[in-house]
Amino acid sequence: MIRESIVITTDKKNNVHVAPMGIIFKKKYIIISPFVPSQTYSNLKEYPYAVINFTDDVKIFSDCILGKKKFKIKPTKKIKSFYLQETLSYFEVKVSKYYQDSIRPRFNCKIINETMRKPFKGFNRAQAAVIEGAILISRLKILPLKKIKKELQYLQIAVDKTAGSNEKIAWTKLMKKIK
Ligand SMILES: Cc1cc2nc3c(=O)[nH]c(=O)nc-3n(C[C@H](O)[C@H](O)[C@H](O)COP(=O)(O)O)c2cc1C
Repeated sequence: MIRESIVITTDKKNNVHVAPMGIIFKKKYIIISPFVPSQTYSNLKEYPYAVINFTDDVKIFSDCILGKKKFKIKPTKKIKSFYLQETLSYFEVKVSKYYQDSIRPRFNCKIINETMRKPFKGFNRAQAAVIEGAILISRLKILPLKKIKKELQYLQIAVDKTAGSNEKIAWTKLMKKIK
């Protein structure tokens, strides 16, 4: 199963990078698979630690895709990195194995520490729609615009029916981009 997370990595100079990533939990490790080239990939090669954040604030997914660089973060306890201030939970991880691939390499990561901050309050269809919308917008250069618009139109239904304020803000920004 792929879980949508916000991965925070840093380079050697401690510059922070925040990016949505689909990660996979295995029994004893977590897999992060960033495309090449990407900042997440080069950071993990430079400094093999990451923080995997699980947040219900979908604005962070859309803001990342729309190019925002600065987010509210705090220093982590066990590794030298940062977590999202508003995250529900976060996992501090260290790369334990690296599988080279010219398109999508794989980093197996050992969990160093896990922190639960707030309870998960259940599924929301508009949150899922924003995440789908963010994925579509991140593929503007590779998918036909007609297909993207059609899928966004369908996702709009869930947003109209179930969104709260965060979801409305995130969705509006994504729609501005598509226009
Ligand atoms: C929900 C979601 C999941 C994503 N998962 C991945 C992923 O697993 N690997 C990846 O390389 N990009 C993924 N992306 C796209 C990246 O977040 C985006 O392209 C980003 O810019 C990665 O490059 P960067 O590390 O240079 O920022 C995802 C985007 C979204 C919205």
